[in-house]
Amino acid sequence: MAALGITVALLVWVATLLLISIWKQIYSSWNLPPGPFPLPIIGNLFHLDLKNIPKSFTRLAERYGPVFTLYLGSQRVVVMHGYKAVKEVLLNYKNELSGRGEIAVFQAHKDNGVIFNNGPSWKDTRRLSLTILRDYGMGKQRNEERIQRETHFLLEALRKTQGQPFDPTFVLGGGPFNVIADILFHKHFDYEDKTCQRLMHLFNENFYLLSTPWLQAYNYFSTYLRYLPGSHRKVMKNVSEIKEFTSERVKEHHKSLDPNCPRDFTDNLLMEMEKEKHSAEPLFTLENITVTTADMFFAGTETTSTTLRYGLLILLKHPEVEEKLHKEIDSVIGPSRIPAFKDRLEMPYMDAVVHEIQRFINLVPSNLPHVATQDTAFRGYVIPKGTVVIPTLDSLLYDNQEFPDAEKFKPEHFLNENGKFKYSDHFKAFSAGKRVCVGEGLARMELFLFLTAILQHFNLKSLVDPKDIDLSPVTIGFGNIPPNYKLCIIPRS
Ligand code: HEM
Repeated sequence: MAALGITVALLVWVATLLLISIWKQIYSSWNLPPGPFPLPIIGNLFHLDLKNIPKSFTRLAERYGPVFTLYLGSQRVVVMHGYKAVKEVLLNYKNELSGRGEIAVFQAHKDNGVIFNNGPSWKDTRRLSLTILRDYGMGKQRNEERIQRETHFLLEALRKTQGQPFDPTFVLGGGPFNVIADILFHKHFDYEDKTCQRLMHLFNENFYLLSTPWLQAYNYFSTYLRYLPGSHRKVMKNVSEIKEFTSERVKEHHKSLDPNCPRDFTDNLLMEMEKEKHSAEPLFTLENITVTTADMFFAGTETTSTTLRYGLLILLKHPEVEEKLHKEIDSVIGPSRIPAFKDRLEMPYMDAVVHEIQRFINLVPSNLPHVATQDTAFRGYVIPKGTVVIPTLDSLLYDNQEFPDAEKFKPEHFLNENGKFKYSDHFKAFSAGKRVCVGEGLARMELFLFLTAILQHFNLKSLVDPKDIDLSPVTIGFGNIPPNYKLCIIPRS
């Protein structure tokens, strides 16, 4: 009996060695960037801290250099770290490396819409969306008017707090939410409206859950984990509830469409659908339009709203910065005129603070995953078709040479010695190249106008000693999620 046990153990041992050696041979036959040796099935899972994958990438880059390979579940991943490698990928390999890597919980969006689309319809859907947005609503002036109109509602909602402590999440969210709702559906919601609150809750919850360790694991190991219970199910449920909402809006719009008088982004997409009616393979189907509007709604609300919320927390910790902002606003705009985007030219400090908030919070640290659409020669290596490519953004935003003391919040990172705004090419919070954020112009305008208006009318008051405010994110993954907090806002008279 003992002899049989030993024989079985030996056989298992030999088989394992054999498997590892076959795996090693296959693995080393590719001319891939260097990286830690992966184990079968789990790959390099143990090289990553699921609570802080961006930090693991930084550690691995110190060991393997700015371009390295990992295996995560069944996916081969090449990570780009640092200004040169990231810029090279995004700007010199526009076609080869601009596919979208799969995000398992967004399976339902995979071949439609813009953000998660890695199918043949991505290029045209993105191009048409950008054209409509520019012509219809994202032209600078139309957007400025739209944001200025919304500013009144935002200030009103803030005034209603009457100097009492409140959680700013859904009040601040109301501004970006209504701006994008107006662009997409020509709709405006009261900040306390149930549908508005529900949608903001879904966006907020998904951004949080997507950034938790479980969802990081799920993303790479969904083949094994999909049947288990867990928060991935909640994210998918939320995604489908958001999609139900946009689907209803798209259907309503379709019924009442007047091609001579398009009301918004959705009408413009529907008009394209009508044009393609007789095509054998139409791109702009009701499904594609539904997913495109859902993508824009989520991305257009949650990113800007989280930046505003994190931004106010940073200002609570740095009252000296808030004071300088009040002074600049008072001297350039005064107490009552509504802020305009061109004021930015005379407000280098506010401009620098907005940039520094975005740099410091590093909202999407590892960018969204790209994928190689063909075998690609890169710096003497070959990145095979289908490889996930991660052009990390935190490696630029936290580059200590470009931004000395990068771990500290310092508006001076964006100011020259004369106090003028200093541009940095490392500021790539919106990424770059063919997949660059579609809403960059809109988000920049919203951040400047909303923040300026809030500080024009209110002083921020912390409920705790500023020294005790911890700015570390509560969870790090898809995004860096700010801690929950309350504050008071006191009208400036
Ligand atoms: C502070 C605000 C924002 C930040 C930091 C941000 C950041 C990003 C980043 C890092 C990407 C991925 C780029 C890549 O894959 O290389 C992205 C993509 C995208 N963003 Fe934004 N974003 C913001 C606001 C917005 C807004 C307001 C909208 C909508 C109007 C929007 C719509 C999109 C879309 C549609 C994509 C997908 C582009 C594609 O895959 O072709 N974003 N954004």
